[in-house]
Amino acid sequence: MSELWLPFYQPAQDPAPLRIARGEGAYLYTEDGRRLVDAISSWWTNLHGHNHPKIMAAIREQTERLDHVLLAGFTHEPAERLAHGLGRVLPKNLTRIFFSDDGSTAVEVALKMAVQYWRNAGRPEKRRIVALENGYHGDTVGAMSVGDDSVFTEAFGAMLFPVERAHSAYCYRCPVGRKRESCQIDCADHLNEILERGKEEIAAVILEPLVQGANGMIVHPVEFLRKAREACSRHDVLLIADEVFTGFGRTGKMFACEVAGVEPDLMCLSKGITGGAIALGATAATERIYEAFLGADPDRTFYHGHSFTGNPIACAAANASLEIFQTEPVFERIETIAAIHRERLAALRAHPAVGDTRQLGTIAAVEIAAEDAGYTSAVRTSLYPFFLERGILLRPLGNVIYLVPPYAISPEDLHLVWDAIAAALISR
Ligand SMILES: Cc1ncc(COP(=O)(O)O)c(C=O)c1O
Repeated sequence: MSELWLPFYQPAQDPAPLRIARGEGAYLYTEDGRRLVDAISSWWTNLHGHNHPKIMAAIREQTERLDHVLLAGFTHEPAERLAHGLGRVLPKNLTRIFFSDDGSTAVEVALKMAVQYWRNAGRPEKRRIVALENGYHGDTVGAMSVGDDSVFTEAFGAMLFPVERAHSAYCYRCPVGRKRESCQIDCADHLNEILERGKEEIAAVILEPLVQGANGMIVHPVEFLRKAREACSRHDVLLIADEVFTGFGRTGKMFACEVAGVEPDLMCLSKGITGGAIALGATAATERIYEAFLGADPDRTFYHGHSFTGNPIACAAANASLEIFQTEPVFERIETIAAIHRERLAALRAHPAVGDTRQLGTIAAVEIAAEDAGYTSAVRTSLYPFFLERGILLRPLGNVIYLVPPYAISPEDLHLVWDAIAAALISR
């Protein structure tokens, strides 16, 4: 007999796993009848609420027609419709959609596309990748390589490819010792210097635009992303925007790049792409990149594809999610969440246990002033069960408590979650 091995879970320390029987809206229901408010959208995947009837219906209907077909030399209506649908919401310059399985594979695809793009363009020496401090891009080896060193990657140092790392705009712990009120986003100069020095060998910069999620919900000023775009353009380096987390409305706009008015060369998508119902990854590319892969020489081909690339059932779910954006007041819901976050964060800011508060759209974070800051902080160990006992799924990232609720959460439930956070602070 075999048993489950759970991800990011330590049986010796974490509370016993909860068996979830059913989901509806912002709620998860345990088998023993408890109701939890899913305040982190089940690892940031869910957009419109669990088991949204339109997404479930789209999945059911697709299962009547076609379960799966390889995408090498074949195509199907759900994938084509999704590529067109994404084209309507993505930055205008991103015209080609390459499907994969999840966020990590969307990142691997973008990295490989960037490197082969330069090779196909006759500049094979441009193959190094630059990434940001505090970045996180997934758990596969390439994605780990571009993510910053952390407890997640510690055991695998020898497997990772070398990456040069530029400062990120972590204003609370400014890497260049400035105060936000008076700085000119001076931390971005570091990236510019790296590109200036290495542009002949650098293929791409990869970053999480505006919000670095897994390493603490670090919200950047929009100018940082704009400066990164300018530096990449100036030095002829591709910009990869990893919107796996920030995509599909989380930041208040469809994409974080839109908030900053920036067009990347490659964009990674996953999580919310299907409304959070089923796994799917996508990498969007410019026509210029796509064209570099065309030609009679087989060497130009992008030899990358996963068995379930562009799975029709996942594409049908994603099409239904995009339709919900058109037929339901999704951005009004997002604005309601953002307004409640603003109000509640303002009330918490002066609390002595609070080091920093951060927000962009539906993403809100409270960084607890802790000596053991970081993912393994004791803050998480004590607060995770504290929230569960109150019927709330909040999974602090070390000393950072954050909310990323489904857009279907009611204002009452959202206030309930904030009340629990306030109670947790009072008890500190
Ligand atoms: C920005 C970002 N990129 C990539 C990933 C990896 O996605 P997945 O867990 O679906 O592989 C994540 C996951 O949290 C993420 O936040």
